[in-house]
Amino acid sequence: MNIVLLGFMGSGKTTIGKAFAQRKKLKFIDTDDVIEKQNNLLIKDIFSSYGEAHFRLLEKQVIDQLVGLDNCVIAIGGGAVMYYDNLDALKRIGTTVFLDAPLQKIIMNLKGKFRPLVGHTIDEDKMRELLEYRYPTYRKADLVIHTDNLDIQQIVDEITAKLGL
Ligand code: S3P
Repeated sequence: MNIVLLGFMGSGKTTIGKAFAQRKKLKFIDTDDVIEKQNNLLIKDIFSSYGEAHFRLLEKQVIDQLVGLDNCVIAIGGGAVMYYDNLDALKRIGTTVFLDAPLQKIIMNLKGKFRPLVGHTIDEDKMRELLEYRYPTYRKADLVIHTDNLDIQQIVDEITAKLGL
């Protein structure tokens, strides 16, 4: 059994994934970390040196490598489901859970953090546009959790209850 966390950057996939893994004694994997380790480069440097298309290819390769894992909570980079057959591949790997966070919460979480697609200054309109574009794909997850007004442990509780774990 694997849990695959999907959602926009800043929606809490890593924080919630770690808390969930700890609670259920599962292993936590973050695809961005795996990409960085395998390539010995930071995500931002992969984007700046080789471009987004190359990053998406590395991301797809890492997702394909997840096949066969068990008892893991896997946080997936926010854009991955938009490329190749990644969403279908992820659904074969585990139960996909979309962490649906409102834009304002996402913006708050991203303040002071750098993401290649956002840069140092958050452009709210650009973020809204990207979130709206990706939203229908995120909604195809097996489970949708509305994270607004819930703290980390409550979100973990809700995933646990809804999946009957
Ligand atoms: C991206 C999200 C990032 C990372 C890369 C691209 C995206 O991951 O994969 O910067 O396209 O939304 P997080 O969702 O973990 O921030």
